[in-house]
Amino acid sequence: MMNNKISIVVKEGIEGLPECLAGWREVYVVFDRNVSEVVEDIVSHCREVKGSLEIVATEEEKRIETVMGIVRWLMDKGASRKALVLAVGGGITTDMAGFAACIYKRGVAYANVPTTLLAQVDAAIGGKTGVNVDDYKNMVGVIRQPAFTYICADVLRTLPRRDFLSGAAELVKTFILEDGAPHYEDAVALLASLRDGTPLGAVMTELARLVEAAAGVKAGVVSRDEFETGERKKLNLGHTFAHALEHEARRTGTDLTHGEAVAVGMILAAELSERVGVAPEGLAERLRRDFVAAGLLVESPFPVSVLRDAMTKDKKAEGDIVHFVLMRGIGDVVFVDIDPLKI
Ligand SMILES: NC(=O)c1ccc[n+]([C@@H]2O[C@H](COP(=O)([O-])OP(=O)(O)OC[C@H]3O[C@@H](n4cnc5c(N)ncnc54)[C@H](O)[C@@H]3O)[C@@H](O)[C@H]2O)c1
Ligand SMILES: [Zn+2]
Repeated sequence: MMNNKISIVVKEGIEGLPECLAGWREVYVVFDRNVSEVVEDIVSHCREVKGSLEIVATEEEKRIETVMGIVRWLMDKGASRKALVLAVGGGITTDMAGFAACIYKRGVAYANVPTTLLAQVDAAIGGKTGVNVDDYKNMVGVIRQPAFTYICADVLRTLPRRDFLSGAAELVKTFILEDGAPHYEDAVALLASLRDGTPLGAVMTELARLVEAAAGVKAGVVSRDEFETGERKKLNLGHTFAHALEHEARRTGTDLTHGEAVAVGMILAAELSERVGVAPEGLAERLRRDFVAAGLLVESPFPVSVLRDAMTKDKKAEGDIVHFVLMRGIGDVVFVDIDPLKI
């Protein structure tokens, strides 16, 4: 799939990767230690690989010092300006390895092999790279497109269930904001069957089809609005509430994944959409029913009143107004400015 500057390769397994690397003479792999088996496979099949560096993928480690560690390693290895940095891991790894590549020698190429569902449908597509600063997420970074993103659902087999579901929320989100009912319903059905005990291996083909569709939606949005001046903002569906939920979770020490916050955020956004008359009555109820079936979180761990304060501090807020992405229906979203105090 090639979309303007965005190149996405979707294959069943990792074996198609050497072909993508063929044109590169110097490849440096930066990988999440939890996917070392995938990396062994890559290193043994690609002669272009000049070295591999293991990193620890946690939000605490997602900081400039870790990126500088990658930069120093590239210097030690004598990586030239023709190098390709290959990130293998989830969004934390692709964000950091991509950022290191973007600043090393004023920018060398990078490519992604996302190994989480979240990274396959979201983080590894679109060119946003960066790190956290203190408690502030993704405060520093650049937008620069990877040479390619290589997606294969097969690497998801080892992903812990909670991480899988975190990505599943973004998968469902993608189909709510674009592509509409068929993909949305297929995604809910697939997640429901997994919830009922169907092994992941039995639904791999269907999962790969949905991941490819979602990756295509994101690539399309980004290619039309790379620097988020307009349409790209719709990828924030559910995220205004989600960021408030995550803020409150950090403050209270509550364990909440990003995807869980996004799932609840979408339910709250659907309720708000109905309340302000953007969505027909019943949309929120439908989402709630589907999300429960799919095994996604629907209940906010905090009262909505607590989220208001956090929301006004959201980085997308200007003055008292918060920019919400609301839903007219499945596959149809709209931007609406609302004063959170009136919610
Ligand atoms: N750049 C963007 O556009 C963008 C978009 C969304 C999110 N993000 C960023 O992505 C990050 C979240 O991404 P994520 O959910 O992929 O997180 P992650 O990179 O932390 O991965 C989640 C967990 O899964 C493990 N893991 C990864 N692949 C695995 C596999 N195949 N088998 C077993 N374990 C595996 C990791 O070690 C980690 O413990 C956040 O930092 C977020 O800011 C970036
Ligand atoms: Zn998200």
